[in-house]
Amino acid sequence: MEILIQANAERASKLAANIIADRLLAKPDLVLGCATGRSMEAIYGELVQMYREKQLDFSRCHSFNLDEYVGLAPDDARSYHYYMRQQLFQKVNIDLQNTHLPNGLAADLKAEARRYEQQIAQQDGIDLQLLGLGESGHIGFNEPLSSLMSRTRDKALTPTTLKQNARFFGGDPEKVPRRALTIGVGTILEAREILMVVTGAEKADILAKATEGPITAMISATALQLHSNCKVIVDEAAAQHLQGQDYYRWIYEHEPEWQAYR
Ligand code: GLP
Repeated sequence: MEILIQANAERASKLAANIIADRLLAKPDLVLGCATGRSMEAIYGELVQMYREKQLDFSRCHSFNLDEYVGLAPDDARSYHYYMRQQLFQKVNIDLQNTHLPNGLAADLKAEARRYEQQIAQQDGIDLQLLGLGESGHIGFNEPLSSLMSRTRDKALTPTTLKQNARFFGGDPEKVPRRALTIGVGTILEAREILMVVTGAEKADILAKATEGPITAMISATALQLHSNCKVIVDEAAAQHLQGQDYYRWIYEHEPEWQAYR
């Protein structure tokens, strides 16, 4: 794992977008694992900007989203289907046929979960998986005690997550769906590269536990410590409780890989 500390959220988003752009330029048929949430909005904004400036071509890119709420239709403004169309899909030249999200309206959620795993396998897996970090320590919607080998399935959301995501539901945690379909921690770990982006002081505590704490199913993001190609981009506010801050900064300043991005 490599932790890249940036001065602020804007710089963190720009670095993430630049890394995604590089991967897409190197592999036009990139299979991109997409995440949702506040932290992703500026990243998608940067990608849209780069597309408009003709630096990027999404026409052969495939995408798989991490998760979707159970019970929300794709045209529901609070669904992740809708979020992705608004933030990215409608604004770039990606072929909508190549974009995938779990179907939260499926009558048989277990069959839908199996179908989703098969679709990922048919594309030969995910090249680059984007992740945010939930305040419960989740990646995707893998809430505490999710098996670190779990696959796509439906999960009950924790009160912490209902509260965190209430802002998309008029501020009322009671209005947030109680369940979601999410790809598993094991599925995420199979991505060839992982990019987690974490910003804001409210994530500082869980970020330190996720990256520097012991690996535990209580915090599914700790599983990322097992991945051999995982980068975590954070801003100063989120980084404030990291014990290894000085080392991470030194690496970012001195490793040749990062010279082009600074
Ligand atoms: C939701 C998503 C997660 C995401 C998290 C972070 O819960 N299921 O995949 O990481 O939000 O959200 P935010 O970036 O809004 O803090």
